[in-house]
Amino acid sequence: MPILVRDNYWILETEHTAYACGVGAQGLPEHVYWGARLPFAGDYPAIAQTGDWASFSGAAHMLPAEYPAYAGPSYTEPCLKLTNADGVRDTVLRFAGATVSDGATPELRVTLRDADYPLTVTLGYRVHEAHDLIERWAEIANMGDAPVTLERAWSALWHLPWGGEYRLSHLFGRWFEEWQIRREVLQPGVKVKESRRITTSHTANPWFALDRGAAGEEQGEVWFGVLAWSGNWKLAAEVTEYGATRVGIGLNDWDFAWRLNPGETFTTPASIAGYTVDGFGAASRTLHDYARTRLPHGKTLHPVLYNSWEAVFFDVNEASQMAVAERAAQMGVELFVMDDGWFHGRTVDNAGLGDWWPDEVKFPNGIKPLIARVNALGMDFGLWLEPEMVNPDSELYRAHPDWVIHFPTRARSEMRNQLILNLGRADVQEYLIDLLDRLLGEHNITFIKWDMNRNVSEPGWPDAPGDARELWVRYVEGVYHVWSTLAQRHPQVLWQSCSGGGGRVDYGMLRMVDQFWVSDNTEATARLGIQEGFSQLMPAITMESQVTHMGRPLLSLPFRFHVSMMGVLGISDDLLKWAESDLATGAELIALYKEIRPIVQLGDQYRLLPAQSQDFTAVQYVSKDKAESVLFAFRVHIPEPARIPPVFLRGLDRDARYAIEGFDEVRSGQAWMNLGLRIDLKNGESTVRRITKIG
Ligand code: GLA
Repeated sequence: MPILVRDNYWILETEHTAYACGVGAQGLPEHVYWGARLPFAGDYPAIAQTGDWASFSGAAHMLPAEYPAYAGPSYTEPCLKLTNADGVRDTVLRFAGATVSDGATPELRVTLRDADYPLTVTLGYRVHEAHDLIERWAEIANMGDAPVTLERAWSALWHLPWGGEYRLSHLFGRWFEEWQIRREVLQPGVKVKESRRITTSHTANPWFALDRGAAGEEQGEVWFGVLAWSGNWKLAAEVTEYGATRVGIGLNDWDFAWRLNPGETFTTPASIAGYTVDGFGAASRTLHDYARTRLPHGKTLHPVLYNSWEAVFFDVNEASQMAVAERAAQMGVELFVMDDGWFHGRTVDNAGLGDWWPDEVKFPNGIKPLIARVNALGMDFGLWLEPEMVNPDSELYRAHPDWVIHFPTRARSEMRNQLILNLGRADVQEYLIDLLDRLLGEHNITFIKWDMNRNVSEPGWPDAPGDARELWVRYVEGVYHVWSTLAQRHPQVLWQSCSGGGGRVDYGMLRMVDQFWVSDNTEATARLGIQEGFSQLMPAITMESQVTHMGRPLLSLPFRFHVSMMGVLGISDDLLKWAESDLATGAELIALYKEIRPIVQLGDQYRLLPAQSQDFTAVQYVSKDKAESVLFAFRVHIPEPARIPPVFLRGLDRDARYAIEGFDEVRSGQAWMNLGLRIDLKNGESTVRRITKIG
């Protein structure tokens, strides 16, 4: 029974972990426990009694409240802050009841009510038993007859066990250099990570991992989580003056307001979190397994694709694409994707966005002949779109200049010559659904790369139906609505989220997309680190990675392929310029990739030697049944004479015997994992070794 109940005290158990909370003396749900699952229900601690306190803090201030609202003497980060119609700005919540429901994913709902106002807050907890994850969210309902203004409505406050200093691992970066891992010991006060960009952002990601400073890739306690939201978000990791550590996560309250009308309920996005004793690697694998269950196309293997962007940029046309398609098909590519440049008026980046029909000059017969040719060559066809955007030089903007996000009295800042359509507006949503539905209905398209190439500015919404600051949330809900409607109507389409690379990668996107474009930076050595950061929260099946000619000096073709074979392999280069020998090498590597693809896309990933801190890096994937594995190793640049670090394999069946390509011996999994492999590579070299269980 994953949810144990006794007298308003709940224990949420997953296979290996547990989370407990209960109603304390102050009438509020308090956090009690988060860690390893304990053998007996009686093992879990009682609700702590508040100890001594001073007049400068107050008893309530010391409570580990599950979902603190701003009320009374409280000075730490609350989850909820609102203003009532009469101007009263605090929210005194009291426990009002709870329900537990069983089923595939058991749920606990704890309802709190304001002591003096007709407002209820329901805390949701979902137990993902097999995945060792707890999902949390909140629903705020206005039961009165006057509007309430929400100013902060977070998803959860995650309390870490009391005692000890915690280290926060987080991701930071920028366009072209996303996914950099940083680990820092939290100090008293608040460490904030956030996005104010209307997307998840390249600069930070709503993922966190906390440890007590001693965890490594494969050992040590780690508490970790994500927020399933694709717009402005905020994470506040706080160490209080009494040494308690907690992580609040949810919608960003910066410039946020939401008018909650009588009878309405506001539901926050979900935060999903877990605990492991097996280090950052296990934390990632836990998220990977869960993410794979959320993918719209489940465990269907993702195709090897060709993409036109790094090959010809905007210069696509029927003849050139057909010529390239021939070569792609010969190499074994399964999906041919035409990137930017194909639609009405698009020759460079200053025109056309919004007008999603084929450019009459480049494609005088439309794109059906190209699609037919691609299909005849045995490949599927995919297309690039940027639905949320409009160029001022477009039919759409000339017809509807008021449809963009803007302040009427201010100049509209263009970035990449484009403005953002206000997807909070119902008319904009309808327009996009209608236009794109027709495009997908009339063409045999099985893949869409959905891009989003700028961040917000002048976040105004003239004539907004509610508070104009609702834009931050209504925009994202609009994106979800348009996208999911199209996804439901066209289930054959595999969707990829892109935002100038990795600007919108998050668990909110997983309701529509199967795949992400991780970074515009495809230089293979940079990519090793970028992919490692991405793998902290997302599995390889979602990570499209392309072989291009970015970077000088150019690394060997096998090195570039090997890097991309660690995710969903793609090629984006002008194949008409490839020598016959390169095409042959490419074909061989694509064939190899197809053989190992199930292990990479569906197996367990082990980051054996981290790329962001070493110039010799190794990553291993192991099939779920441990029968097959594949090892990738790369030497970037280590000055000679060099001692190459040994590679310790992971995840093998200890007692089974395995053969490794390139080694004569057959040894037990235990032996291979303990001995450490010597993989001699020269600078700029890489290798892929298959590992096979032979009994
Ligand atoms: C963004 C994407 C690229 C490419 C271009 C097209 O930068 O990240 O992969 O699609 O847009 O304009």
